[in-house]
Amino acid sequence: MIELDKERLYAYLKETYEKNHPKSKAFYERAKKSLIGGGSHNLRLIDPFPFYDVSSRDAEITDKDGITYIDFWQGHFANILGHNPDIVCEALEDLFRNRQGLETGFPGLYQTELAEVIRRQTGAEKIRFTTSGTLASMYCILLSKSFTGRDIVLKVGGGWHGAQPYALKGITSMGTGGLELMESAGLSAHIESSIVMTRFNDVEDLEDKFQRFGDRLACLIVEPFLGAGGFIFGRKDYIQRARELTEHHGTILIFDEVISGFRFHARGVQSLYGIVPDLSLFGKAIGGGMPASAVAGRGDILSLCDSSAPVDKRVKFEGGTFSAHPASMTAGVVFLNHLIKNEEKIYNKIGKLGETARAGIEKTFQGYGFNVRCTGGDQKILPQSSLVGVNFLHDHIDRITSPEQVWNPAQCDPVMREKIFKLAMLNEGFNIFHGYGAVSYAHSEQNIQASLDAVDRVAQLFLQYKK
Ligand SMILES: Cc1ncc(COP(=O)(O)O)c(C=O)c1O
Repeated sequence: MIELDKERLYAYLKETYEKNHPKSKAFYERAKKSLIGGGSHNLRLIDPFPFYDVSSRDAEITDKDGITYIDFWQGHFANILGHNPDIVCEALEDLFRNRQGLETGFPGLYQTELAEVIRRQTGAEKIRFTTSGTLASMYCILLSKSFTGRDIVLKVGGGWHGAQPYALKGITSMGTGGLELMESAGLSAHIESSIVMTRFNDVEDLEDKFQRFGDRLACLIVEPFLGAGGFIFGRKDYIQRARELTEHHGTILIFDEVISGFRFHARGVQSLYGIVPDLSLFGKAIGGGMPASAVAGRGDILSLCDSSAPVDKRVKFEGGTFSAHPASMTAGVVFLNHLIKNEEKIYNKIGKLGETARAGIEKTFQGYGFNVRCTGGDQKILPQSSLVGVNFLHDHIDRITSPEQVWNPAQCDPVMREKIFKLAMLNEGFNIFHGYGAVSYAHSEQNIQASLDAVDRVAQLFLQYKK
């Protein structure tokens, strides 16, 4: 890796950003007076301050200072059709015009329809909806503990399942290069010992953990496509072995498909592996831009949250004022049906553009001597993928295969990825995330080419700060 004077480079990027965003800066000062850190989601509160969006449409987003960006964050990767697609907005407009769509406190018609769509596409026996991926992952784990009568959760290092007690271990390493620490204060001590960590894509480690803890493991929770941990596909033999071991030991296999569900085709990524987990959780895309998540899977496990379940086994996954919110269910039905109907067209386009971005970014940076490698694609699993991760590697590393590498400063530079490259691209008019992000159907070939031209300018800028 070419050594850069990162401090000076970042100072320059910040100065440019601040100069271009006087209105956002002023609004940030106001926001901070009422909101912790100026907002309610830390990832959105970038340094030195966030830009405040005033409109977002298709591939673009415009901020208070009148700057328009091509956006690859796209609603935390949920917006497969881009921002505010007509198809969803019009359905919601109709709903509200008819004085429907706000919470009523009744079951409504649309959740049944959305459950039918998800069941048809994923093969799940039963569904229950809630409002966030975080809650869905917590309920999956409670269901597993009740069903098996066991206490230990086997979790993958680098896996992000939301901030709920049973998933707050080993996520980003907190700068240590290891993925085994608790990552939140406020948890009871026994939680730490009830989460056992295993390494992603490491069959040997998985076998070892099952040998040591097998008959005490309630569940293995894993993203078959690791999202925040680096956009890495599970290897086929790893996912297969996870299924064999969980089956053999009577452990519940949970696939977290909050990112991967409906992202690569109009199904779960699980179908690419031909593996059926016991439970899955879906979120992001299934609400079509509105808050919704689902626990989907085996009827005998999910029935433990039914009011008819034996009291000592019953899981209190039964409430939620806004569970299966009518507007979310409507948006989800319209959105998923659109993805299904136009599956070939949509996924071919976004997958192809993702491939173009990955190849172009690597070629551009490598042309200037930077050891940059992209993640998000894996020809062995999927010919084309619309998610693009970018990593700045040290010279002795030639590719990224694990989340331990993604967060290890001795192998790969997270500061370059998450801060410096991000701000440099923002100054060029591109909002990227985890090095690039998600291509949506609203992005054009020209958008991708323009982003690659910007990468070229950014690489040249970086060279001016060579040590
Ligand atoms: C794989 C995965 N699981 C769970 C979650 C949590 O979902 P939510 O943010 O809806 O609570 C996320 C959020 O990014 C995620 O990426």
